[in-house]
Amino acid sequence: MHAKNKNIILTGDRPTGKLHIGHFAGSLKRRVELQNSGAFDEVYIMIADAQALTDNADNPEKIRANVTEVALDYLACGLDPSKSTPFIQSQIPELTELAFYYMNLVTVARLQRNPTVKAEILARNFEASIPVGFFTYPISQTADITAFDATVVPVGEDQLPMIEQAREIVRSFNSIYGNTLVEPKELLPENSVCGRLPGTDGKAKMSKSLGNCIYLSDSPDEIKSKVMNMYTDPNHLRVEDKGDTKDNPVFIYLSAFADDGHFARYLPEYENLAALKAHYERGGLGDVKVKKFLNNVMNEILEPIRLRRIEWEKRLPEVYEILKKGSLKARETAAGTADRVKAALKINYFC
Ligand code: TRP
Repeated sequence: MHAKNKNIILTGDRPTGKLHIGHFAGSLKRRVELQNSGAFDEVYIMIADAQALTDNADNPEKIRANVTEVALDYLACGLDPSKSTPFIQSQIPELTELAFYYMNLVTVARLQRNPTVKAEILARNFEASIPVGFFTYPISQTADITAFDATVVPVGEDQLPMIEQAREIVRSFNSIYGNTLVEPKELLPENSVCGRLPGTDGKAKMSKSLGNCIYLSDSPDEIKSKVMNMYTDPNHLRVEDKGDTKDNPVFIYLSAFADDGHFARYLPEYENLAALKAHYERGGLGDVKVKKFLNNVMNEILEPIRLRRIEWEKRLPEVYEILKKGSLKARETAAGTADRVKAALKINYFC
């Protein structure tokens, strides 16, 4: 039977690029807090290289290189291998095995309805040429989650349909084959702004190909130039004009990152974000001043991360050792689940 009454976290990222402040606000920060909270028996953090290959089949070098980048980003953000288990998805073949059996419980129509997959297919211009592996990744993601008996999956809002899909598969598996799998719950960011940070250009999402991301590894000069060039309210032409703070990425970033302490340290003439917003909205507050403040906030948050990253970059063999150890441990857990699943499916012939 599965691990009863345990609190287990599983979450992860596709290694298609370095991680950026959207990842930090939407999940990394929270993960580290959860890891340190002591409320969880296990915390598994997966680098989803197999999932990344589902739409990067022609570019394995890119995925391989970014496995290292993502591992460095994790460690830089405070992932502590003595409290969490970081691992590489492809090193756990049981995940592929589980996904194969779960595929029998999901219809093509159900996958086609998945709003995240729909949006991703559009964004990648796949049209009729969707790789089957990509199309079925919600099922593989269910394997990732259930292999570890995860009870809690901390994710951004865009991943909600995946958790719903996982719950459906778990329910139908358990109802057909007997109680075998654990039903997961999502854990969304507390501040809803954090779940969906736009790009510095105001586009809905940060994406490497759009060049609109602030990376955790950016230098202070890169951050400054990205912040000072950010898209704001296009109708806020003169300082005295009224400004919009709702669809304005500078204010969206401030909502995600600035606290009252930042105001006290860098912009004491405003008590808090509400006061700054009010001034911008009634007119008389220039973009440059707000951007300079945002730059100070971003630097305060990103500096310790950048410095830790630089330290880990000098210790790559240790980073690989951490990933190897994590993958071995993860495999052991997943193998236990795969045994349970195969017993439930009556395909445990030689046990
Ligand atoms: N799809 C997730 C992303 O793109 C990565 C991922 C793969 C994941 N498997 C997972 C997240 C399981 C949570 C749980 O970021």
